[in-house]
Parts: sequence; structure tokens; C-alpha cells
Amino acid sequence: MTAQTLEYEKVYDDPPEYVRHEKLVKWVGEMAAHLQPDSIYWCDGSEAEYDKMCDLLVDVGTFIRLNPEKRPNSYLARSDQGDVARVEDRTFVCSVNKADAGPTNNWMEPGAMHNILDGLFEGSMRGRTMYVIPFSMGPLGSPIAYVGVQLSDSPYVVTNMRIMTRMGKKVLDVLGEDGAFIPCVHSVGAPLEPGQADVTWPCNREQKYIVHFPEERAIWSYGSGYGGNALLGKKCLALRIASTIARDEGWLAEHMLIMGVESPEGEKTYVAAAFPSACGKTNFAMLIPPESFDGWKVTTIGDDIAWIKPGADGQVYAINPESGYFGVAPGTSYKSNPNAMESCKANTIFTNVGLTDDGDVWWEGMTDEAPAHLIDWTGQDWTPDCGRKAAHPNARFTAPAYQNPVIDSEWENPQGVAIKAFIFGGRRNSVVPLVYQAFNWSFGVYLAATMGSEMTAAAAGTIGQVRRDPFAMLPFCGYHMASYFNHWLQFGREISNPPRIFGVNWFRKDENGKFVWPGFGENMRVLKWIVERAHGHAVAVESPLGWMPRYEDIDWTGLEFSREQFNNVMSVDREQWLQEVLSHEELFIKLYDRLPKELVGIRELLLSGLWRSPQHWEISHE
Ligand code: OXD
Ligand code: MN
Repeated sequence: MTAQTLEYEKVYDDPPEYVRHEKLVKWVGEMAAHLQPDSIYWCDGSEAEYDKMCDLLVDVGTFIRLNPEKRPNSYLARSDQGDVARVEDRTFVCSVNKADAGPTNNWMEPGAMHNILDGLFEGSMRGRTMYVIPFSMGPLGSPIAYVGVQLSDSPYVVTNMRIMTRMGKKVLDVLGEDGAFIPCVHSVGAPLEPGQADVTWPCNREQKYIVHFPEERAIWSYGSGYGGNALLGKKCLALRIASTIARDEGWLAEHMLIMGVESPEGEKTYVAAAFPSACGKTNFAMLIPPESFDGWKVTTIGDDIAWIKPGADGQVYAINPESGYFGVAPGTSYKSNPNAMESCKANTIFTNVGLTDDGDVWWEGMTDEAPAHLIDWTGQDWTPDCGRKAAHPNARFTAPAYQNPVIDSEWENPQGVAIKAFIFGGRRNSVVPLVYQAFNWSFGVYLAATMGSEMTAAAAGTIGQVRRDPFAMLPFCGYHMASYFNHWLQFGREISNPPRIFGVNWFRKDENGKFVWPGFGENMRVLKWIVERAHGHAVAVESPLGWMPRYEDIDWTGLEFSREQFNNVMSVDREQWLQEVLSHEELFIKLYDRLPKELVGIRELLLSGLWRSPQHWEISHE
């Protein structure tokens, strides 16, 4: 240790009495010696603590308290303008072998990465408090849940973690004296010298590292205070690290929403659905059926992540490891998603949205008419004609799940719910039809492996292009993507009653760029067919891609949608699909070293199906 670091050596208070886990206490002590915070604070997760933390954030200017009459117990934070989204190019999976991370992850040799991180983290918390945040992903004590302990120098992170996870003393109770936990170290990378004034959103503008060590099962995050970069339970633990654990243990950690669909007869069916970021997952998870679907109900288990395990009865069971929504605000309105609006009515943290003159929030798409004046997400005066956005496109609300009016009664069931269907959907202007069912599990894996979408706020430079996003897991799979495909194939072989697999595309457009499917609540019509198919009821015909509904197989009551319109949104064009399959090949070549042979075989079968069919396949040809 250098003389300079010795100068900062501190004596820290003992942990609270209820902390009985020696290994945890030792680790926290070692980390403190290295990170050199001014003090250590163990989060108990209580409401009083949350309120205290929010007051502190208001005092230092990170939070603005919103008008309690309009938005009770809610706050607005404005981030640094360079710290507004996940940083995929700064995200690393440091497995021991490079080949295990695969070509779709950034990789560095773990020792070399630890050296870099050691340098960056040494003294990185000077002048700040180190918060110890014990959290459970999954209902407390669930056999499917995992415990993490995040160290962070960001009180903003503490408040968000309290909403997004089960957090605090109750988690340590579950952990007991020697329970296993996943260590997660987070620093905004902005130490303060004595007397140095802080900024409202500390972060490191030069260096950001979001690092996963899958074998060690450890997470280190440096330089960012935003979302998935900093709330380490979410993408880092519940997806990247959990996916590697799931591979080893024979289950699935997926970027999926989970919803319940209840028929008028009271039959409840759970489905899980994967869509790439920014494809309306939260909207789908909280869907309100059209009025004509009297008696049908949709309920939410989760809107982003599903952990799925095989059950003894041959079905698969899923839990939502999170306890809140970190939803994209722009575009959310009482028209597009009333349940999301209700979820963030109170007790919510808003980040990078506009602040209205009466102390409430506003974002693009929230109302038809914009307020005449507000303060935008950068803190500047804003008027509708100023040419800037009021909210950043990736602005978020962090809201407790229990505030969702359609939260499912089973959402905290530690055993999870039985999943009957998996739905995969990208954002595709053309080519991919509204809905089809894979012929079998392996075709379903192919469908999901080759799904594509256009753009995400975190994937700079890809706007308008199709980005292959297998299983919507491209940024979140903690190991070689082709091994992940293989894991899915193997998983399917081992369950006797697997969920049926479906592809959907809500986003198809006509030659004039107009959406040809109304979307939102009308997606219920497709969902109903899916649910009935999953139970083996509804009729379908064989298409070149899989099983498809005929016009008469969809419930159109209350919507004028002609047979011609239906054909338009369901048609399969051979020339387009040949191009599509060629671009699947591009992905396969990239993953060649570990690509399961089944997928190559299915590609051939797909081609033969396309050649067998008319040039332009429409349901009416059947
Ligand atoms: C998210 C994402 O924030 O997928 O959920 O980017
Ligand atoms: Mn997501």
C-alpha cells in the first residue's frame, strides 16, 4: 500500500448486531479497505431508511421531490447526460476461457480484468459512504431465488434496489450464518477529495466497466449510476450470471415477461414472452383486453425477467425474480398502458423525464397535448416548439410491482407458475407474419434463435437495421450463444410437457410505412389463439414456417379487420424469406464453433418448406 492510501485508512463502525454471516462481514471489511469509503452503511430495507435516503438525495440535489398531491412520495432524478443507458460495448463476460464467452460477448482474461478493476476501484469510494445492500432475486426463501449482496457508493442505487428487489435485513435472515451470496461491487467511480463539492449525478465520464466473472459468480461495475449498469440484481445477476448458473443446473434464466390469461370460464393459463428491449414488453405484460373480450383477464407476474425450472410433473415453472418495474417512460400513457400509469402513480422514482410547472412529470407520448412549459431532462426550460425532447428516450420509472392493478395473485408464489406457451417477437417492418406456432420444440428454438429486431436505446448505431437478437438475450447471455441454443434444445428433451412455442410480430408495416396491425389491447386476439393452441384446442393450418391461424380461427368480435387485411399481416413471401434465411446463416457462421447441428438441419427443412409453397404464401391458398 502506498503512503497515500494509508492516509485514507479508516476505522469503520461494526455491522449491526443482526448481521451474523462471518464470511460476509469479512468480505465487506476487505472491500472497504480497498475501496476506502468514509463510512459503511448496512441497509435494513425499512421504509424509514428509504425515506431517509430519499431526503438525503433531495438535500444533495440528486432527487427533486415531486408535488405530493400529484405524485405522492415520488422523486425525479436527472442523470449525467453521458450516463443514460446500458453500455453494451463496456460490458464484459470474463470467463476463464475466451471460447466460453463466445463471439457475442466482450471478453478479457479474468486475471487481466481483475488487475484493471483493482486499479480503478482502489480508493474509488473516498469521500463517500459504502452501502451494503443484501438483496434476493425471487421471493424470499423461494427454492428458485438467489441472494446477492451489492456494495455501492450510490444512494440512488439503494433506493432503486429497494423497489426492484427484496432488500435488507430480511434477506440476511434468509442467508443466516453461512448462506451463499453473489458478491456485486459497484462504484460510480467518482471519489471526492476532502472538501471537494459533489455533483448531483456522480459517475465516471472516461471509464465504464460492467464486468461478470461467471466461474467466480461475481459482478463488478464501475463508472455508471444508471439502470442495468448499476442495479446489479437485474441484467447482471438475474440474466448474465443466472444464465450460466441455469446452464450448469438445468434450468433457464430468460429475458421474458410472464403473464396470466384467464378465460371467462375461469381457466388461467400462464405464458412467458421474450421481446428485445424497447418492443413494448411492459405493455404486453399489462395488456387490457378489448371490451368485446368480456370476461377475459390478463394479469402480470413480471415484465422483464423469468427464471424457469422443470417441475416434477413434467411442466415448467417460472418466477419473476424482481419486485418492481424499471419501465421506459416515453410512449407510456393512459391510452397505451393504463396499468403502468397506475403503477407509477405514487412511490415512484422517475429518471430523466420532464418536470412540469406544477411539480409533476411529463414525457413524450404521455398526453396528446404537451404542457406549454416544463423543465426538460437536462434541466433546461422546454416548450413544445423548442426542438428538443422533454424526456430522454430511455427515461425510466422505477415503480413497485404491487402497485400494478392487474398484478397476478400468484406473483410471489415461491414455487412459480406453470408455463404453457413461450412467445418470441421482434420488431420487424416486414417479412415476419403476425403469429405462427413452431412445428415442435426444436423449430421453436430455431425461431427464437433467429429472431431479429430493430434498434434499442443501448445499441448505438443500429437504428433502422435488423439486429439478430436470439431469444432477446444477445446483450444478456452470460456464455456462448450457441451453447445457450444447445442448452435450450437439451432442456426441451428433458421435459415431458413442454410449453408450445410461438413467434409474433406486432410491428409489420405496409408500403406506406403504416402499421398493418393495431397492436396494444388488440394483441389479445392473438394471445387468445395462442392460449387455445397451447391447450390443444384452436385450429391451425400448416404454413411454410409453422402452424398458423386461419382468418376464422381468430376472434374478431368488436374489431373490423378484413380477411384481406389478415392475409396482409400473415403472408409469407418466398424471396423475402430466402434473404431472411441467408441472414440467419450469417448468425450461424458467427456461432459456427458451437452451433447445434439441429439448427442447420431445421434451416434446410425451412428452405424446403418455402420451395414447396407458392411464391407468395397466404392462408387463403390452403
Ligand atoms: C431493459 C432492457 O431495461 O432490456 O429491460 O434494456
Ligand atoms: Mn429488458
